[in-house]
Amino acid sequence: MEDPFGRIVNYLRVSVTDRCDFRCVYCMSENMTFLPRKDLLSLEELERLCSVFIDKGVRKLRLTGGEPLVRRNVMHLIRNLGKQIDQGRLDELTITTNGSQLHRFSNELYEAGIRRINVSLDTLNEEKFAKITRWGRLPQVLNGIAHAKKAGLQIKINAVALKGENETEIEDMMHWAHGEGFDLTLIETMPLGEIEGDRTDQYIPISTVRQRLEQKFTLEDIPYKTGGPARYVEVKETGGRIGFITPMSHNFCESCNRVRLTCTGTLYMCLGKDDAVDLRSALRSSESDETLSHAIDKAILLKPKGHDFVIDRNAAPAVSRHMSTTGG
Ligand code: 5AD
Ligand code: SF4
Repeated sequence: MEDPFGRIVNYLRVSVTDRCDFRCVYCMSENMTFLPRKDLLSLEELERLCSVFIDKGVRKLRLTGGEPLVRRNVMHLIRNLGKQIDQGRLDELTITTNGSQLHRFSNELYEAGIRRINVSLDTLNEEKFAKITRWGRLPQVLNGIAHAKKAGLQIKINAVALKGENETEIEDMMHWAHGEGFDLTLIETMPLGEIEGDRTDQYIPISTVRQRLEQKFTLEDIPYKTGGPARYVEVKETGGRIGFITPMSHNFCESCNRVRLTCTGTLYMCLGKDDAVDLRSALRSSESDETLSHAIDKAILLKPKGHDFVIDRNAAPAVSRHMSTTGG
Protein backbone atom coordinates (compact mmCIF):
# COMPACT_ATOMS: atom_id res chain seq x y z
CA MET A 1 0.00 0.00 0.00
CA GLU A 2 1.40 3.37 -0.98
CA ASP A 3 0.03 6.73 0.09
CA PRO A 4 -0.07 9.90 -2.03
CA PHE A 5 3.26 11.02 -0.56
CA GLY A 6 5.04 7.86 -1.69
CA ARG A 7 5.19 6.32 1.74
CA ILE A 8 4.74 2.57 1.92
CA VAL A 9 2.30 1.51 4.61
CA ASN A 10 3.32 -1.87 5.95
CA TYR A 11 2.72 -1.45 9.66
CA LEU A 12 -0.67 -1.72 11.32
CA ARG A 13 -1.35 -0.89 14.93
CA VAL A 14 -4.55 -2.23 16.36
CA SER A 15 -6.18 -0.93 19.50
CA VAL A 16 -8.12 -4.00 20.66
CA THR A 17 -9.86 -2.14 23.48
CA ASP A 18 -10.09 1.46 24.64
CA ARG A 19 -10.34 0.27 28.25
CA CYS A 20 -7.49 0.20 30.68
CA ASP A 21 -6.89 -0.80 34.26
CA PHE A 22 -4.75 2.33 34.77
CA ARG A 23 -5.62 6.00 34.44
CA CYS A 24 -2.29 7.63 33.59
CA VAL A 25 -2.54 11.37 34.13
CA TYR A 26 -1.18 12.33 30.71
CA CYS A 27 -3.32 9.79 28.91
CA MET A 28 -6.77 9.72 30.42
CA SER A 29 -9.01 11.75 32.61
CA GLU A 30 -10.04 10.01 35.80
CA ASN A 31 -13.64 9.62 34.70
CA MET A 32 -13.40 8.20 31.26
CA THR A 33 -16.41 7.19 29.25
CA PHE A 34 -15.55 4.06 27.35
CA LEU A 35 -17.18 2.68 24.27
CA PRO A 36 -20.29 0.62 24.83
CA ARG A 37 -19.40 -3.05 24.39
CA LYS A 38 -21.91 -3.44 21.58
CA ASP A 39 -19.86 -1.09 19.40
CA LEU A 40 -16.79 -3.28 19.61
CA LEU A 41 -15.73 -5.50 16.79
CA SER A 42 -15.63 -9.12 17.83
CA LEU A 43 -12.22 -10.77 18.02
CA GLU A 44 -13.10 -12.68 14.86
CA GLU A 45 -13.89 -9.43 13.06
CA LEU A 46 -10.63 -7.90 14.23
CA GLU A 47 -8.76 -10.93 12.99
CA ARG A 48 -10.45 -10.75 9.61
CA LEU A 49 -9.60 -7.07 9.30
CA CYS A 50 -5.98 -7.73 10.21
CA SER A 51 -5.80 -10.54 7.68
CA VAL A 52 -7.02 -8.30 4.89
CA PHE A 53 -4.38 -5.73 5.83
CA ILE A 54 -1.79 -8.51 5.75
CA ASP A 55 -3.07 -9.58 2.32
CA LYS A 56 -2.48 -6.00 1.24
CA GLY A 57 1.12 -5.84 2.39
CA VAL A 58 1.20 -5.23 6.12
CA ARG A 59 4.26 -7.04 7.53
CA LYS A 60 4.25 -5.80 11.07
CA LEU A 61 1.37 -5.72 13.48
CA ARG A 62 1.24 -4.23 16.96
CA LEU A 63 -1.63 -4.73 19.38
CA THR A 64 -2.27 -1.82 21.70
CA GLY A 65 -5.13 -0.35 23.70
CA GLY A 66 -6.05 0.92 26.21
CA GLU A 67 -4.52 -2.11 27.77
CA PRO A 68 -4.74 -4.92 25.22
CA LEU A 69 -4.41 -7.68 27.81
CA VAL A 70 -7.58 -6.65 29.63
CA ARG A 71 -9.74 -7.50 26.62
CA ARG A 72 -11.49 -10.80 27.28
CA ASN A 73 -10.04 -13.74 25.31
CA VAL A 74 -7.49 -11.52 23.61
CA MET A 75 -5.05 -14.46 23.62
CA HIS A 76 -7.32 -16.17 21.12
CA LEU A 77 -6.76 -13.32 18.67
CA ILE A 78 -3.04 -13.21 19.44
CA ARG A 79 -2.59 -16.94 18.81
CA ASN A 80 -4.39 -16.74 15.49
CA LEU A 81 -2.40 -13.73 14.35
CA GLY A 82 0.78 -15.44 15.48
CA LYS A 83 0.04 -18.28 13.08
CA GLN A 84 0.40 -15.83 10.22
CA ILE A 85 4.06 -15.43 11.17
CA ASP A 86 4.55 -19.20 10.77
CA GLN A 87 2.82 -18.97 7.42
CA GLY A 88 5.32 -16.33 6.30
CA ARG A 89 2.58 -13.75 5.85
CA LEU A 90 3.72 -11.51 8.69
CA ASP A 91 7.22 -10.58 9.89
CA GLU A 92 6.39 -9.55 13.39
CA LEU A 93 3.61 -9.40 15.93
CA THR A 94 4.19 -7.18 18.94
CA ILE A 95 2.24 -5.72 21.79
CA THR A 96 2.30 -2.54 23.84
CA THR A 97 1.21 -3.14 27.40
CA ASN A 98 1.25 -1.47 30.78
CA GLY A 99 2.58 -4.70 32.23
CA SER A 100 -0.21 -5.26 34.73
CA GLN A 101 -1.19 -8.63 33.28
CA LEU A 102 2.19 -9.91 32.18
CA HIS A 103 2.49 -12.26 35.13
CA ARG A 104 -0.48 -14.11 33.66
CA PHE A 105 0.22 -13.97 29.94
CA SER A 106 3.98 -13.87 29.26
CA ASN A 107 4.44 -17.56 28.49
CA GLU A 108 1.38 -17.65 26.27
CA LEU A 109 2.54 -14.56 24.42
CA TYR A 110 5.85 -16.21 23.66
CA GLU A 111 4.18 -19.42 22.58
CA ALA A 112 1.91 -17.43 20.26
CA GLY A 113 4.97 -16.12 18.42
CA ILE A 114 5.47 -12.76 20.07
CA ARG A 115 9.16 -12.04 20.61
CA ARG A 116 9.26 -8.37 21.56
CA ILE A 117 7.00 -6.35 23.80
CA ASN A 118 6.85 -2.70 24.80
CA VAL A 119 6.06 -2.04 28.41
CA SER A 120 4.98 1.47 29.38
CA LEU A 121 6.71 2.42 32.60
CA ASP A 122 7.44 6.01 33.56
CA THR A 123 9.06 5.66 36.97
CA LEU A 124 10.62 3.14 39.33
CA ASN A 125 9.43 5.04 42.37
CA GLU A 126 6.41 3.32 43.87
CA GLU A 127 4.68 6.45 45.08
CA LYS A 128 5.26 8.33 41.87
CA PHE A 129 4.06 5.35 39.90
CA ALA A 130 0.80 5.35 41.82
CA LYS A 131 0.48 9.08 41.29
CA ILE A 132 1.14 8.96 37.55
CA THR A 133 -0.97 5.89 36.77
CA ARG A 134 -3.60 6.68 39.45
CA TRP A 135 -4.72 3.02 39.60
CA GLY A 136 -1.50 1.13 38.89
CA ARG A 137 0.81 -0.55 41.38
CA LEU A 138 4.51 -0.79 40.62
CA PRO A 139 5.31 -4.18 42.21
CA GLN A 140 2.70 -5.86 40.03
CA VAL A 141 4.24 -4.38 36.90
CA LEU A 142 7.80 -5.25 37.91
CA ASN A 143 6.67 -8.78 38.64
CA GLY A 144 5.03 -8.93 35.22
CA ILE A 145 8.21 -7.70 33.57
CA ALA A 146 10.22 -10.36 35.39
CA HIS A 147 7.84 -13.01 34.04
CA ALA A 148 8.17 -11.63 30.54
CA LYS A 149 11.95 -11.70 30.73
CA LYS A 150 11.89 -15.27 31.99
CA ALA A 151 9.55 -16.26 29.17
CA GLY A 152 12.18 -15.08 26.70
CA LEU A 153 10.43 -11.93 25.51
CA GLN A 154 12.66 -9.06 24.46
CA ILE A 155 11.55 -5.99 26.39
CA LYS A 156 11.53 -2.30 25.57
CA ILE A 157 10.56 0.09 28.32
CA ASN A 158 8.62 3.12 27.09
CA ALA A 159 8.73 6.13 29.37
CA VAL A 160 6.92 9.38 28.73
CA ALA A 161 9.21 12.18 29.89
CA LEU A 162 7.25 14.29 32.36
CA LYS A 163 8.44 17.61 33.64
CA GLY A 164 8.83 17.62 37.39
CA GLU A 165 7.78 13.98 37.63
CA ASN A 166 10.32 11.57 36.22
CA GLU A 167 12.79 13.91 34.56
CA THR A 168 15.29 13.45 37.37
CA GLU A 169 14.92 9.69 37.27
CA ILE A 170 15.82 9.00 33.67
CA GLU A 171 19.35 8.02 34.61
CA ASP A 172 18.17 5.53 37.23
CA MET A 173 15.71 4.07 34.78
CA MET A 174 18.43 3.71 32.20
CA HIS A 175 20.73 1.88 34.62
CA TRP A 176 17.93 -0.43 35.64
CA ALA A 177 16.73 -1.12 32.08
CA HIS A 178 20.19 -1.66 30.66
CA GLY A 179 21.16 -3.78 33.64
CA GLU A 180 18.19 -6.01 32.86
CA GLY A 181 19.01 -6.09 29.17
CA PHE A 182 16.05 -3.92 28.14
CA ASP A 183 16.01 -1.03 25.69
CA LEU A 184 14.64 2.23 27.05
CA THR A 185 12.64 4.63 24.89
CA LEU A 186 11.78 8.16 25.96
CA ILE A 187 8.68 9.81 24.55
CA GLU A 188 7.41 13.39 24.52
CA THR A 189 3.85 13.98 25.72
CA MET A 190 1.43 14.64 22.91
CA PRO A 191 -1.75 16.73 23.05
CA LEU A 192 -4.27 13.93 22.62
CA GLY A 193 -7.63 14.30 24.32
CA GLU A 194 -8.76 16.33 27.29
CA ILE A 195 -7.13 15.55 30.62
CA GLU A 196 -7.49 17.22 34.01
CA GLY A 197 -4.03 18.75 34.12
CA ASP A 198 -2.35 21.19 31.81
CA ARG A 199 -0.06 19.60 29.27
CA THR A 200 2.18 22.64 29.27
CA ASP A 201 3.11 21.65 32.81
CA GLN A 202 3.96 18.11 31.76
CA TYR A 203 5.87 18.71 28.56
CA ILE A 204 9.62 18.50 28.45
CA PRO A 205 11.45 18.27 25.14
CA ILE A 206 13.42 15.07 24.69
CA SER A 207 16.36 17.17 23.48
CA THR A 208 16.67 18.51 27.05
CA VAL A 209 16.62 15.00 28.45
CA ARG A 210 19.23 13.95 25.94
CA GLN A 211 21.50 16.90 26.72
CA ARG A 212 21.37 16.07 30.41
CA LEU A 213 22.31 12.48 29.72
CA GLU A 214 25.12 13.61 27.47
CA GLN A 215 26.71 15.51 30.32
CA LYS A 216 27.43 12.19 32.02
CA PHE A 217 27.31 9.55 29.33
CA THR A 218 28.60 8.97 25.84
CA LEU A 219 25.68 8.58 23.47
CA GLU A 220 26.46 7.30 20.04
CA ASP A 221 23.91 7.50 17.24
CA ILE A 222 23.28 4.05 15.80
CA PRO A 223 21.25 2.99 12.77
CA TYR A 224 19.19 0.48 14.82
CA LYS A 225 15.52 0.51 13.71
CA THR A 226 12.48 -1.34 14.94
CA GLY A 227 9.98 -0.05 12.41
CA GLY A 228 8.78 2.73 14.71
CA PRO A 229 9.72 6.41 14.86
CA ALA A 230 12.39 6.12 17.58
CA ARG A 231 15.94 7.17 16.85
CA TYR A 232 18.41 5.13 18.83
CA VAL A 233 21.71 5.77 20.53
CA GLU A 234 24.01 3.36 22.25
CA VAL A 235 25.22 4.36 25.67
CA LYS A 236 28.93 3.56 25.79
CA GLU A 237 29.04 3.22 29.57
CA THR A 238 26.19 0.70 29.83
CA GLY A 239 26.29 -0.94 26.41
CA GLY A 240 22.50 -0.49 26.27
CA ARG A 241 20.26 1.36 23.84
CA ILE A 242 18.08 4.42 24.31
CA GLY A 243 15.42 5.41 21.81
CA PHE A 244 14.13 8.95 21.48
CA ILE A 245 10.62 9.61 20.21
CA THR A 246 10.13 13.28 19.50
CA PRO A 247 6.72 13.90 17.95
CA MET A 248 6.69 17.44 19.32
CA SER A 249 10.19 18.74 18.77
CA HIS A 250 11.08 16.80 15.66
CA ASN A 251 8.39 15.70 13.32
CA PHE A 252 9.14 12.31 11.79
CA CYS A 253 6.05 12.05 9.60
CA GLU A 254 8.01 11.95 6.36
CA SER A 255 8.99 8.36 7.07
CA CYS A 256 5.68 7.25 8.58
CA ASN A 257 4.83 3.69 7.54
CA ARG A 258 1.80 2.99 9.71
CA VAL A 259 -1.93 3.36 10.17
CA ARG A 260 -4.05 2.70 13.23
CA LEU A 261 -7.17 0.66 13.61
CA THR A 262 -9.49 1.05 16.58
CA CYS A 263 -11.57 -1.65 18.24
CA THR A 264 -14.67 -0.31 16.50
CA GLY A 265 -13.12 -0.68 13.06
CA THR A 266 -12.24 2.94 12.47
CA LEU A 267 -8.98 3.47 10.64
CA TYR A 268 -6.95 6.54 11.60
CA MET A 269 -4.35 7.41 9.06
CA CYS A 270 -2.39 9.62 11.47
CA LEU A 271 -2.13 9.67 15.25
CA GLY A 272 -2.27 13.44 15.29
CA LYS A 273 -5.12 14.05 12.87
CA ASP A 274 -8.83 13.42 12.80
CA ASP A 275 -8.81 11.89 9.32
CA ALA A 276 -10.49 8.52 9.70
CA VAL A 277 -12.40 5.99 7.67
CA ASP A 278 -14.97 3.56 8.98
CA LEU A 279 -14.13 0.02 7.95
CA ARG A 280 -16.78 -1.65 10.05
CA SER A 281 -19.59 -1.20 7.59
CA ALA A 282 -17.43 -2.48 4.74
CA LEU A 283 -16.45 -5.42 6.91
CA ARG A 284 -20.03 -6.25 7.76
CA SER A 285 -21.55 -5.52 4.37
CA SER A 286 -20.19 -8.59 2.66
CA GLU A 287 -18.71 -12.01 3.30
CA SER A 288 -16.14 -11.38 0.64
CA ASP A 289 -13.20 -9.15 1.46
CA GLU A 290 -13.39 -7.15 -1.74
CA THR A 291 -15.48 -4.25 -0.40
CA LEU A 292 -13.21 -4.05 2.62
CA SER A 293 -10.11 -4.09 0.47
CA HIS A 294 -11.46 -1.18 -1.59
CA ALA A 295 -12.34 0.76 1.55
CA ILE A 296 -8.76 0.31 2.78
CA ASP A 297 -7.33 1.48 -0.56
CA LYS A 298 -9.45 4.61 -0.33
CA ALA A 299 -8.38 5.23 3.24
CA ILE A 300 -4.67 4.99 2.45
CA LEU A 301 -5.13 7.66 -0.21
CA LEU A 302 -6.35 9.98 2.54
CA LYS A 303 -3.28 9.60 4.74
CA PRO A 304 -2.29 13.13 5.75
CA LYS A 305 1.20 14.42 5.20
CA GLY A 306 1.77 14.82 8.92
CA HIS A 307 0.60 16.18 12.21
CA ASP A 308 1.24 19.61 13.62
CA PHE A 309 1.19 19.17 17.36
CA VAL A 310 1.60 22.19 19.57
CA ILE A 311 1.52 22.27 23.32
CA ASP A 312 0.39 25.66 24.42
CA ARG A 313 -1.66 26.84 27.34
CA ASN A 314 -4.41 28.18 25.13
CA ALA A 315 -4.41 25.47 22.53
CA ALA A 316 -7.01 22.75 22.47
CA PRO A 317 -5.75 19.17 22.08
CA ALA A 318 -4.70 18.42 18.50
CA VAL A 319 -7.36 15.76 18.40
CA SER A 320 -10.19 15.14 20.82
CA ARG A 321 -9.62 11.41 21.19
CA HIS A 322 -7.26 10.04 23.80
CA MET A 323 -4.23 7.86 23.12
CA SER A 324 -6.24 4.93 24.46
CA THR A 325 -8.57 5.12 21.46
CA THR A 326 -5.91 4.65 18.83
CA GLY A 327 -3.05 3.19 20.83
CA GLY A 328 0.44 4.60 21.03
N1 5AD B 1 1.53 11.55 24.94
C1 5AD B 1 2.56 10.69 24.83
N2 5AD B 1 2.50 9.41 25.14
C2 5AD B 1 1.35 8.95 25.60
N3 5AD B 1 1.00 7.72 26.01
C3 5AD B 1 -0.29 7.77 26.38
N4 5AD B 1 -0.79 9.02 26.25
C4 5AD B 1 0.21 9.78 25.76
C5 5AD B 1 0.34 11.14 25.40
N5 5AD B 1 -0.68 12.00 25.51
C6 5AD B 1 1.93 6.60 25.96
C7 5AD B 1 1.84 5.60 27.05
C8 5AD B 1 2.37 4.36 26.40
C9 5AD B 1 2.09 4.55 24.95
C10 5AD B 1 1.06 3.63 24.43
O1 5AD B 1 1.67 5.88 24.80
O2 5AD B 1 2.63 5.88 28.15
O3 5AD B 1 3.76 4.22 26.57
FE1 SF4 C 1 -3.64 2.85 30.30
FE2 SF4 C 1 -1.45 3.17 28.82
FE3 SF4 C 1 -3.24 5.14 28.99
FE4 SF4 C 1 -1.76 4.52 31.10
S1 SF4 C 1 -1.02 5.32 29.15
S2 SF4 C 1 -3.98 4.89 31.10
S3 SF4 C 1 -1.54 2.35 30.91
S4 SF4 C 1 -3.59 3.18 28.07
